[in-house]
Amino acid sequence: MEDKKVLLSGIQPSGDLTLGSYLGAIKNWSALAREFDCYYFMADMHTITVRQDPAQLRKHTLEQLASYIACGLDPEENTLFIQSHVHQHAELGWVLQCFTMFGELSRMTQFKDKSAKHAENINAGLFAYPSLMAADILLYQPDFVPVGEDQKQHVELTRDVAGRFNSLYGDVFKIPEPYIPKVGARVMSLQTPTAKMSKSDEDPNGCVYLKDDNDTVMRKFKRAVTDSETCVRYDRENKPGISNLMEIYSACTGKTYEEIQREFDGKGYGEFKPAVGEAVLSVTGPIRDEANRLLKDKSYLEQVYRTGAEKAGAIANRTLRKVYKKVGFVPR
Ligand code: TRP
Repeated sequence: MEDKKVLLSGIQPSGDLTLGSYLGAIKNWSALAREFDCYYFMADMHTITVRQDPAQLRKHTLEQLASYIACGLDPEENTLFIQSHVHQHAELGWVLQCFTMFGELSRMTQFKDKSAKHAENINAGLFAYPSLMAADILLYQPDFVPVGEDQKQHVELTRDVAGRFNSLYGDVFKIPEPYIPKVGARVMSLQTPTAKMSKSDEDPNGCVYLKDDNDTVMRKFKRAVTDSETCVRYDRENKPGISNLMEIYSACTGKTYEEIQREFDGKGYGEFKPAVGEAVLSVTGPIRDEANRLLKDKSYLEQVYRTGAEKAGAIANRTLRKVYKKVGFVPR
């Protein structure tokens, strides 16, 4: 346990998990616990940089936690917690704002994108968000931070801020590496198979959610965009729709493309599309049902996030004490 490297990541509880994020990433996370000491938190403090409905935020935070557990993140093997439960995040966040430059924050592409999108609410929190994210990370002295492409710039900034602090005060922070996990399936929209499957898909039939009921999943697959060839064959270039369905089918069944091709040889898309839906349901159905069961078990979820916050808080506190001492705050 002690010699395992530490891995930490935050998840914004901003909505429902998609089949794309499950097959592409989350599915592989449970295996990481064998290799790393893993911390995952629901980044609720980050979500309020854009307006949230309070009841929805509470609901999404717990749903997210339940879904991740249902996806295989075992709370016995991973530290799962809610960001706002560990007050050291806010405290170190403030200190690190004083070590992050205005110019650096101005260059963040996510800030530029989000302030364009929410022009009526360009608040200081949205601007300083990367300093809070740096605090989230540096409190736990992790070796690795698994993030998607869109968050790499924030991890780079975290490294710069940590380096700046260390060069003034000695080795306080470990400099973390971004961790790009071995890629899982690359799932595209069912309606626009040249674009990634995403919650922000304009066509609601393009994106499958883990919590979709059976009928919805089947309907979305039956309506999936294909081509006029009527031959199940892998060709990303010329047959993006069918290739995407094959990738999904393969990820859910473990079958290779050749096996799938043979299985549906001489059969039309009318047979293939519902088969993909069934295969998906055999994976997502049990996850959905388990997440719903956990959501009803309030005391279990409470026990998970309390235990998580206690463990995380103890570690976070060690780092924060060191930082407070270094910058010259009088110990209480
Ligand atoms: N900013 C991340 C996102 O939007 C979430 C996040 C917050 C995070 N703090 C983090 C990710 C720390 C990794 C490490 O997806």
